[in-house]
Order: sequence, then structure tokens, then C-alpha cells
Amino acid sequence: MDRVRIGILGTGNIAPLNVAAYLKHPNCDVLAVCDTREHKAREAAEQWGVPKVYTDMDAMLADPDLDAVEILTPTMLHKDHVLAALQAGKHVSVQKPIANSVRDGIEMMEAAKAAGLTLRISECNFGYPPLVKAKELIKSGVIGHPTMCRIKTVVGQTNSEFQNGLDPSGYTWRFNDQSPGGHLFDDMVHKYGTALWLFDQDITSVQAIVRQAPAFFEAPMAAIWEYERESLLGMMEVTYAPNMHIKSSFYGADEFFEIQGTDGWIWVTRGTGEMLDLAPVIVYHPDGTTTSYSNIEARWDSGFVHTSTAFIDALLAGTPDPEMTPELAIKTLQFCFAVYQASIDRSPVDPRTITDSVSPPWWPPDLSNYFEDIKNYGTK
Ligand SMILES: NC(=O)c1ccc[n+]([C@@H]2O[C@H](COP(=O)([O-])OP(=O)(O)OC[C@H]3O[C@@H](n4cnc5c(N)ncnc54)[C@H](O)[C@@H]3O)[C@@H](O)[C@H]2O)c1
Repeated sequence: MDRVRIGILGTGNIAPLNVAAYLKHPNCDVLAVCDTREHKAREAAEQWGVPKVYTDMDAMLADPDLDAVEILTPTMLHKDHVLAALQAGKHVSVQKPIANSVRDGIEMMEAAKAAGLTLRISECNFGYPPLVKAKELIKSGVIGHPTMCRIKTVVGQTNSEFQNGLDPSGYTWRFNDQSPGGHLFDDMVHKYGTALWLFDQDITSVQAIVRQAPAFFEAPMAAIWEYERESLLGMMEVTYAPNMHIKSSFYGADEFFEIQGTDGWIWVTRGTGEMLDLAPVIVYHPDGTTTSYSNIEARWDSGFVHTSTAFIDALLAGTPDPEMTPELAIKTLQFCFAVYQASIDRSPVDPRTITDSVSPPWWPPDLSNYFEDIKNYGTK
């Protein structure tokens, strides 16, 4: 293939970030957009200069001019949309999470294998330069053998232009039984996936405590896990701070990653936000010196640019999917559901035993006292 002609399914909140690199890629043509909300599809087509506009997925998939589709529809539709796209002979990139259940993810993976087509999951963390650098540094052995992975996520509030411009209708399906869980499903899959990807190691056991927070939040949460290699462990926390301003150009959240090794450690000091005035990646060496990677590209949306570029480059090269394979996306889902299950059982769960999905006991949440719940959060 010397050019990739791609169609975009779903032109909602996240679409501009995913599509930006396709529009810029010298060997990619964004030929079509499709959204059941015609005004959204037309608006996107006009803004991006896309010639074909569809409101019916099957009509777009029947377009013989398309080689590939980017699926940006709500997660509960991923399975049906991916299967339809593969059936129509298109290569597929689909946003995370791969699906609402492990069973669905496996069906999608097998359909892609049977069709001999690429199915990859669009995971912006795998293209985010500070995390790519951290993975490269771990592999180079600069910190010796990794022994601990620590990931913190904090959610607060922000008034970024991006956040203020979000269409609230993009949240209804995240807050009800169309999703198996809330924030630990929708957002934390990025971090569960990153914990797997950084070390190329399977996770064999997860313990967790998850508390309910307002709306779809699930915090505080604390989890610890074991990797295949006994000397490597992981831990994670998720906190909700509704009254804390998060310095961010995107969502009101940020992340920190610390990878301790036998010889030193690596910090990734930002993710979605830019809370701390620190270099995005800092290495502490065995001799006590530090290296700060200050000039590394670290805007959160750069992850989308590199991830979308990688999809096109892989199709052009005829190589397998970049980074997030369906196998890894399924392990990520198993990790996610193992956290919920471990919190319910108050005992360790092997994520590899999860075959379907798990929801927190209070799911779907009662939203009737939303503002009151936020006011009282942290008092009980
Ligand atoms: N950091 C990230 O990588 C990130 C961030 C946000 C969302 N996401 C993922 O992206 C996906 C979309 O999220 P969003 O926030 O943009 O949601 P959204 O609800 O804002 O957008 C979804 C769009 O799909 C359209 N749609 C629904 N059914 C359709 C159909 N049958 N055919 C065509 N279009 C249809 C809707 O009209 C809407 O415009 C989700 O899977 C979500 O998890 C990823």
C-alpha cells in the first residue's frame, strides 16, 4: 500500500485529537467521516476538508475507496463497529477500551486474525513521548532491573479550553449501564495498559480497594499487583480532589509514574496535565547524578499524534500493528476488571481468570444528588 485512505467513524469529543495526524500525514487521505448526528459529521468534514460525509456506518464501510477506518464511537459500540469494518475488508484502529468485556475483545481479535486485517487499539499513552522515553530507558538498562512501578492519577477540576468545549452528551453513556464501570474503566485502562506495556510482563495477581466517589468516579483507589518476574511489583492510586485546580490544557487530571530499578529510578512527572514545573522525564543514576529530559515533547495530545501516525506507517510498511495489539488490550481489560473483583472479594485476583466483565457493586451510579455528593465528598 503506498497511500492509506481512511474513514472516521464517530466525530465526537475525542475525534479532533485522533484525526489531526491523519490530516497531516503525507501518505494518508481522510476520505470520509460518518456520524449518526449529521450536523457533527458535516461540521467535522468542513473543518477537516473531508470530501465524503455519511450518517450510516454500513454505507461508509461499503465505500470501496477506503482501506481503513478509525473507530471513535462510544465504547459499548466498539465490538459491533469493529466486526462490521473487518467484515467490509477494512483495516481498523479503534479507541480504547477495546470493548466492554473480555469476551467481546477476544471475538474482535479473532475476527481480525481470520480476516487477515490489522486491528489495533488507539492508546495515546503508547505514543506519549515521556512514556516512550521511559520505556526506552528501562530497556536500555539505565536503572538496572526494574523492581517497582508506581502510578498516581489525580482528578480535580480545570478550566481549559478543551474541557470547556466538550459536548456533555459524550458523557451520558459513560455514566450509566451502557458501561461496565466508571472512571477506573474509562480512563484507568490507559494506566493499566501502560503498566503492562512498560515492562512487557504479564500481571499474575491484583489486590485493590476501590471506593465510590461522585458521578462516575471511583476514588480513592489503591491497588498493588505482581508481575511474572517475582522481583517486580506495581502499585497505583487514584484520587479525586473536586476542589483542586489542575493545571492542564486538556482534562482536569494528571498522572505521575515512578519506575524504581536496582540501580536508579525514572520519573515521568506529567501526563494529561502539567501540574509540576519539572522536566517531563527525570532519571536518577546509580552514582547519585540526575538527568532531566527537559526538551522532550510533553503535551498530552502529542500521544495522539504519534499513535495515529504509527497506525498509518504500519499499514504503509505492511508490518503488524504498532504497540497496542488486541492481545494487550484484552490483558488491559482483565487487569481493569481484576481491580474491581479484588476490591469486592478483598483478596487477590489473577487477571488471567477474568473472561467477561466485572462492575463495582454500586454500578450504575445514582446521579440524582450529584452536586450534594460532590459537596460531601471526603466527609464520610
Ligand atoms: N485519551 C483517550 O485516548 C480518549 C479520550 C476520550 C475518549 N476516548 C475514547 O474514544 C471513544 C469516543 O469517545 P468520545 O468522548 O469522543 O465520545 P462521544 O460520545 O463524544 O463521541 C462519539 C461519537 O460517535 C457517534 N456515534 C454513535 N453511534 C454511532 C454510529 N452508530 N455510527 C456513527 N457514529 C456514531 C456519536 O454521535 C458521537 O459523535 C470512546 O471509546 C472513548 O473511550 C479516548
